[in-house]
Amino acid sequence: MKVTSLNQIYKCGLCGNMSEIIHVGGGEPFCCGQVTDLLEPKTEDVGAEKHVPVIEKTVVGFRVKVGSVPHPMEADHWIQWIELIVDGVSYRKFLNPGNAPEAEFCVEAENVLAREYCNLHGLWQNK
Ligand SMILES: [Fe+2]
Repeated sequence: MKVTSLNQIYKCGLCGNMSEIIHVGGGEPFCCGQVTDLLEPKTEDVGAEKHVPVIEKTVVGFRVKVGSVPHPMEADHWIQWIELIVDGVSYRKFLNPGNAPEAEFCVEAENVLAREYCNLHGLWQNK
């Protein structure tokens, strides 16, 4: 049995539903009659396409770009969301094809974690 922990992302291999653990209750995430797959975030880019979130400090908070070279935002390949996790609080911006592959979050902090989800290449984070 899988042991869940806070902020893990799971995806159903049949229907594609995704869920995030926002409270650890002890059971396994389930969808379409089966246990869902834990998405392990990748942290290192390989090849020409870049996915690792790049965090910039701004005067009002943080700007997160995907990635060091802007990721495509096309109808069949795009960044679905960008998330910033600060001191146990998560902030998420959902994106659509045609949007810029970036998000700005008005929050003050020293250490932040950024994650993003590409519809083709999965879950990524900055560290
Ligand atoms: Fe991608």
